[in-house]
Amino acid sequence: MAETTKLEVFRYDPDAPPGPDGTREGRFQTYEVPFNKDWVVLDALNYIKDQLDGTLSHRWSCRMGVCGSCGMMVNGAARLTCNAFLREWHPEPIRVEPLTNFPVVRDLVVDMTGFMEKLQAVHPYLIRKEQGKLEDGEYKQLPGELAAYKQFSMCINCLCCYAACPVAGFEENFIGPAALALGHRYNLDSRDDGFAERRDVMFSHDAIWQCTFIGECSEVCPKKVDPAAAIQQAKIEATKDWFLSKILPRAMERTASAPVGPREGGAS
Ligand code: SF4
Ligand code: SF4
Ligand code: FES
Repeated sequence: MAETTKLEVFRYDPDAPPGPDGTREGRFQTYEVPFNKDWVVLDALNYIKDQLDGTLSHRWSCRMGVCGSCGMMVNGAARLTCNAFLREWHPEPIRVEPLTNFPVVRDLVVDMTGFMEKLQAVHPYLIRKEQGKLEDGEYKQLPGELAAYKQFSMCINCLCCYAACPVAGFEENFIGPAALALGHRYNLDSRDDGFAERRDVMFSHDAIWQCTFIGECSEVCPKKVDPAAAIQQAKIEATKDWFLSKILPRAMERTASAPVGPREGGAS
């Protein structure tokens, strides 16, 4: 008989009748799928959806670690399910749950609304004081200028770092690792003039200063973004910014539309 693997999959139906206490609880449902050493957890979930139980809900798209939509808890760790091979756990059962620290919409699907709002708050895009003319061509960068932020630009918004972050678990307003790393990424970009527009959010109580530098976010990041390092670098920039505001208040007035620290450090 062909080998099989058991998956214990979290199920939650928001339309199910509530229990006696008025709440709806999730439950685990066990499925047996063929074991294939080349299958990842996402393949097994797709097999369940296609062959065993069409009511299962889960998100995915690219199947190659690019879209960031298949993040889930796999045996307690935040993982991209398209990069988590069954053979890592076989023959032990594999427990699949939605990402922790997010509200569950249905089964393995979480609500990303809060994250999207935090992401928007850090303005994760290039902000220019003046747009160049089209005929002048692209904004050029030296290799060192690219290297200053490239690692932080690899984020695919998979949210694994939020599921791993203990602060994100108890501080609902914490801007969190990926959004802060992306804000820092643009502050480091030599083409960007948006430091002053990100400052109030990124350097606020609910942002970099809530981070306790435990580093779990960087441990789980499948793209090696290292958000913990980005946040600590941003703390240094915030400290420089604060000192400048004390000793050179006139200069700070000018930085209301022009960045100070990050531009100095970013163009190496
Ligand atoms: S380093 Fe900061 S953001 Fe990363 S897991 Fe720890 S507290 Fe969260
Ligand atoms: S920083 Fe890493 S873990 Fe966090 S969302 Fe981006 S890619 Fe995912
Ligand atoms: S399906 Fe796109 S990252 Fe996994």
